[in-house]
Amino acid sequence: MSDLLHLEVSPLGDRSISRSISKEFLDAFKSKHPGAVIVTRDLDLEAIPHLDGETINAGYTPEIDRSPSAHAKHNFRISLVNEVNEAKNILISTPMWNFTVPSVLKAWIDQIIVPGATKVSGPVTIIISQGGSYAEGAPRAGWDWQTGYLKQVFTSLGATDIEIILSEFGLAGVVPAMADFVEHKSASIAAAKKAAQVRAAA
Ligand SMILES: Cc1cc2nc3c(=O)[nH]c(=O)nc-3n(C[C@H](O)[C@H](O)[C@H](O)COP(=O)(O)O)c2cc1C
Repeated sequence: MSDLLHLEVSPLGDRSISRSISKEFLDAFKSKHPGAVIVTRDLDLEAIPHLDGETINAGYTPEIDRSPSAHAKHNFRISLVNEVNEAKNILISTPMWNFTVPSVLKAWIDQIIVPGATKVSGPVTIIISQGGSYAEGAPRAGWDWQTGYLKQVFTSLGATDIEIILSEFGLAGVVPAMADFVEHKSASIAAAKKAAQVRAAA
């Protein structure tokens, strides 16, 4: 049982916007719950293997008939499912890559969704950093296949309290064409950090 299951995705370390926002959440969470048991999965440091045929078939094969390799892969998958089921709170911190989630996060999602076995009952907080903006009226409104997707994933697992904390314009100041949006970027990050603190202290 953990008080918080915490997933990090960005490979950008100290330069990562999503990590800087999740840090605000974690600091506030730890002050509110001293001694909290936090399980961290940093998918940049330790990637989750893609779901392969051996793992899928192991789920349909009696334990006694599984090869040692299939047995190990199956057990690892079930340990990931248990981490989700046993978490009182879940925090996901991720960038947007190519209009959706980075593949390391998708690999985790494919491993943990086992119909009938995975169940999320506590609050889920999803921190997302996007390079641009997909808000209504933006040129690329409707191109965001990440926010709704992640919400759908956790809804399908039973979560009813899901909050998305979004920061936009992460590429402003990095990509010359987005120079006009530097102030929007700072404001968006500041608002996301505040929202993360409030959510963690709730
Ligand atoms: C491989 C890659 C793909 C990206 N694709 C998108 C994208 O489709 N849309 C977008 O708005 N930003 C995109 N970005 C920009 C990141 O979402 C943005 O820089 C974000 O702030 C990164 O979060 P991080 O600093 O926590 O890693 C991409 C960045 C990388 C490295």
